[in-house]
Amino acid sequence: MLVKIKVNGELRSADVPPETTLLKMLRESLNLTGTKLGCDVGDCGTCTVIVDGVSVNSCLMLAGRANGSEITTIEGLADSNTLHPLQEKFEEHGALQCGFCGPGMLMSAKDLLDKNPDPSIHEVRDALSGNLCRCTGYTKIIEAVIDAGRVMRKEISA
Ligand code: FES
Ligand code: FES
Repeated sequence: MLVKIKVNGELRSADVPPETTLLKMLRESLNLTGTKLGCDVGDCGTCTVIVDGVSVNSCLMLAGRANGSEITTIEGLADSNTLHPLQEKFEEHGALQCGFCGPGMLMSAKDLLDKNPDPSIHEVRDALSGNLCRCTGYTKIIEAVIDAGRVMRKEISA
C-alpha cells in the first residue's frame, strides 16, 4: 500500500506491505534510522515519534494508520544547525550514556514541553514513564528536561 506522510516538514511516501509498522517504514523505507528499534512490542519507548502532536510508539502503529499524518522524528528535533534546548541540556547534564534510549526519550520530552513548558518533576517522570533507560538512573534526564523547559521559557540561556 502507498503511505504518504509529512515527516520533519517534508512530504515522503513509500509503498509498503499492509503489516508494516510506522517504525519499519521510517527506518527501512525512508532511511530515518535515528528512531531506534528496541523491544518492538511497546515496552521500551526508544521508537517514540510524534504523530499529529501526540507521542506514539512507532513499533505499535501500522504505517497505513499514519497515512496523511504529520510526523516529527529525532532527525527533525534540531532547527537546521541549532540544537533543540532538550539536546543542549541532555548534553550539558550528561543525561545520555550509551544513547540508545535517547531518540525516544527526547521525543517524549519534546511532546511534554510542547504541551506543558513548565512541568513539575512528577510531570516529567510521568511523561517519560514509557521510556526505559538502562544506564543513567533517570535523574540527569529529568534535570535536563526541567532545564530545557527553563530555556524555552527564557529563564536561562541554552
Ligand atoms: S521498540 Fe517500540 S516500544 Fe520498544
Ligand atoms: S543512556 Fe543507555 S539506555 Fe539510556
